[in-house]
Amino acid sequence: MQKLVVKGKKSLSGTVKISGSKNATLPILAASILSDKKIELSNLPIVKDVITMSELLKHIGSNIKLNLKKKKIFINNNGRKLNTVAPYSLLKTMRAGVIILGPLLSKFGKAKVSLPGGCAIGPRPVDIHLFGLKKMGATIKIKDGYILAEAKNGLVGTKITLPSISVGATENIIIAASYAKGNTHIKNCACEPEIKNLTDFLKKMGVKISWVNKREIKVVGNQKLKSVKHKIMFDRIEAGTFIIAGAVAGKKLRITDIESKILSKEMTILRKMGINLKISKNEVTVLYSKEIKPISIITEPYPGFPTDLQAQIMVLMIKAKGLSKIRENIFENRFMHVPELNRMGAKIKVKGNLSLINGPQELNGAEVMATDLRASVSLVLAGLIAKNRTSINRVYHLDRGYEFIEKKLKKCGANISRLNY
Ligand code: UD1
Repeated sequence: MQKLVVKGKKSLSGTVKISGSKNATLPILAASILSDKKIELSNLPIVKDVITMSELLKHIGSNIKLNLKKKKIFINNNGRKLNTVAPYSLLKTMRAGVIILGPLLSKFGKAKVSLPGGCAIGPRPVDIHLFGLKKMGATIKIKDGYILAEAKNGLVGTKITLPSISVGATENIIIAASYAKGNTHIKNCACEPEIKNLTDFLKKMGVKISWVNKREIKVVGNQKLKSVKHKIMFDRIEAGTFIIAGAVAGKKLRITDIESKILSKEMTILRKMGINLKISKNEVTVLYSKEIKPISIITEPYPGFPTDLQAQIMVLMIKAKGLSKIRENIFENRFMHVPELNRMGAKIKVKGNLSLINGPQELNGAEVMATDLRASVSLVLAGLIAKNRTSINRVYHLDRGYEFIEKKLKKCGANISRLNY
């Protein structure tokens, strides 16, 4: 096992280059199942979830080559018949694996995909994914922990209004619709930038896709897809994490390789908190801010404030003078980092999906542990401003989604190291 050890009270300065987006890469890799032509993906983040997804594709027989050095993936299935079974062993650590259901079903007329494993941040069902695929003609049964789906004559485009907004379900249905017969019109979609990156990829392969408005999309299926080269967009959650790191512990931290307009909600909130930001098109510099003000935020689907940055901004709220509030509207159990932050000296109360953060509080280093990816990184941020030494256990959560995190922080002056124990 590994842990990260942070010795706090060192201020950060320098430049952080943001990596490619994990949440854009995963559905794009799943969509590669649809094509028999060459696919080249660049700007890939080398993180555990991406490795797991490429192992899943390899397992089903995809001809996929990952070049870690160049951060590229090459796929060329050239008419191969893929195995349509996705086992539990590969889905238990990565819920996003269920996105291969739509493409397998659409291309091969059947799929057996393990239900994703339990998740610390809430039950995370897949009913919306299945609702959409059934509308397109699939018959679906759940048996022995597996989704058994069939569409003997292929999926057929139709009108689908999703019962609530889901990123994964929107992606699964868009990918399935890209190979289905006829037109699919999806309403009440998620519109996260990663979904736009996915639709750009599908369009380059020859699928006609148009966004009718923010939450409505039309897809015309196409079974003859073209070869494609595609660059994965930047990771907006990694970018947001480092911008918040700059706000909590920075002297002058420059975050590059981003599209700052995609982060406009986050920047607006940080500015309201008194954070001094210099924003340009592809980078942002976080300057030292003397007084941090409290704020109330609600997590929402894009373009609202992302649940994936909730734990990180909570650390900034600990430094703010006064009472801040967070209402978590996306996942029902996503305050698992609170008891750990309180053990470090924070004064945070949780009432249902609301947390009340009373600041400013001085943090003290401690031995801590997190149960999900974003909660873990919030403990790293807390370690940066705490007195003494903070040990963050279960680093494998962080490695699922942050590329070279300790390297990037070290380069900016953090005292952070990885230990085996
Ligand atoms: C994606 C992101 C994750 C982010 C989340 C919300 C990826 C790989 N992961 O996860 O980082 O935190 O969006 O922005 O992109 N739900 C149902 N039934 C379903 C599907 C979802 O009830 O069939 C519920 C979930 O339990 C949750 C809410 O809908 O409460 C939103 O989940 P969803 O948008 O689907 O999240 P993911 O796609 O799993």
